[in-house]
Amino acid sequence: MSEPLVAGVDSSTQSCKIVVCEAATGRVVRQARASHPDGTQVSAAAWWTAFESARSGGLLDGVSAIAVGGQQHGMVTLDAAGELVRDAMLWNDTSSAPQAARLIDEFGGPPAWVEAVDLVPVASFTGTKLRWLVDNEPDNAARTETVVLPHDWLTGRILADGNGFEGWTTDRGDASGTAYWSPVTEEYRRDLVRLAFGRDVGLPRVLGPAEAAGRTAAGMLVAAGTGDNAAAALGLAIEPGDVVVSLGTSGAVFAVHDRAVGDVSGAVAGFADATGRHLPLLATLNAARVLVAAAATLDVDLQGLDALAAQAPIGAGGLTLLPFLDGERSPNLPTARGTLAGITRANSTPAHLARAYVEGMLCNLKGCIDALSRNGIHARRVLLIGGAAAAQTVRAAASDIFGVPVLVPEPGEYVALGAARQAAWALSGADTPPDWSVPVAATVEPSDPAAGALAAQRYREVLGATHPGAPVG
Ligand code: XUL
Repeated sequence: MSEPLVAGVDSSTQSCKIVVCEAATGRVVRQARASHPDGTQVSAAAWWTAFESARSGGLLDGVSAIAVGGQQHGMVTLDAAGELVRDAMLWNDTSSAPQAARLIDEFGGPPAWVEAVDLVPVASFTGTKLRWLVDNEPDNAARTETVVLPHDWLTGRILADGNGFEGWTTDRGDASGTAYWSPVTEEYRRDLVRLAFGRDVGLPRVLGPAEAAGRTAAGMLVAAGTGDNAAAALGLAIEPGDVVVSLGTSGAVFAVHDRAVGDVSGAVAGFADATGRHLPLLATLNAARVLVAAAATLDVDLQGLDALAAQAPIGAGGLTLLPFLDGERSPNLPTARGTLAGITRANSTPAHLARAYVEGMLCNLKGCIDALSRNGIHARRVLLIGGAAAAQTVRAAASDIFGVPVLVPEPGEYVALGAARQAAWALSGADTPPDWSVPVAATVEPSDPAAGALAAQRYREVLGATHPGAPVG
């Protein structure tokens, strides 16, 4: 008999990627992708279209189990007939920032929120979008009978397509990003749903880590699925002491942890992971997009930027960039803009400027690592993933600025792989996920951590001077 196959889906903001792997080893045997429309409000139907396109041509032939990892937080509203009420509002839609501020006050401030759901609401989280709907589209709010997340919706759609749909489901990881599910009691906080939405609404059943959402009539098991960051953590098989720094267009910094975080500063969101533990996380808006902007400024491509940055010393001769090009979420400065400080004649070179952009992006992420550390979650090493992790200068500067070894896994679809690993786990019925190896492309030890620490210190000073009282990331 041939090796059982499992599939993992990464339904991300940009695209739908599917990997098909051997269940026992995780070896990828085939994969495909299809694009999603741009925007911060998108019809969930487009995710199904992209999934169908990616799986066409028999990609899922012989697959015994599948799971979906999806962008976190998006609000998918369904009417009494299960039809979509409006476009999904995604995690990167910040329209509900005023609603987030009001909800924080109405529930008694950050400590009350942290006690209830281990996070303080920001515009990304689903609950704030529910309030936005009530405030801005009362007719759509009135028609909404059920609210699910992007991965819940695609999971249900896969089951419905296979005549196996028996009701909406989600998992701990994604439920924890709603701001109305507690990772401590593992229950919905219906009082917070009513606070946000003015009434109760149907919510998906929360499955355990290796529980199945159902089976298609043809017998394919559909596992619980999870949010994309929890899926990446599973795909990378991280353990306490590992901190993942994801350098996508936007950034994410997260770790697995054995208990709720309780960060009343609101910097660290205490999400749940996909293995039954917790996933303390900070998300930044400005990661690889900072490098893209730098390359445009300097009229080079990304390789050219890397080569330029390599010509300037660590610390960029005192040139310091606050990279808040599109406002920022960590630290919570939604209307901020970028700042360049410490300009001298000596550092007025393209190489120093290139380096300042690279280091500004990394110093902001170092602030996120420090925020984890303040909550007792210490990085022994950093796993650097995402497109920008390919650049040599980024890897070296990351190791110096973070002050710990940086491990760069081979480029891979870690969200889709994590979903596939969850599918293999659910299929096996075992207590723990299967052991899949994570190939390492490079390990970079700090070469000048003192200079890296100085750059980070200067960054904190410029941040404090430019945004006094800024919530520290
Ligand atoms: C996490 C977050 C993002 C999205 C990206 O809180 O908002 O990382 O999950 O898809």
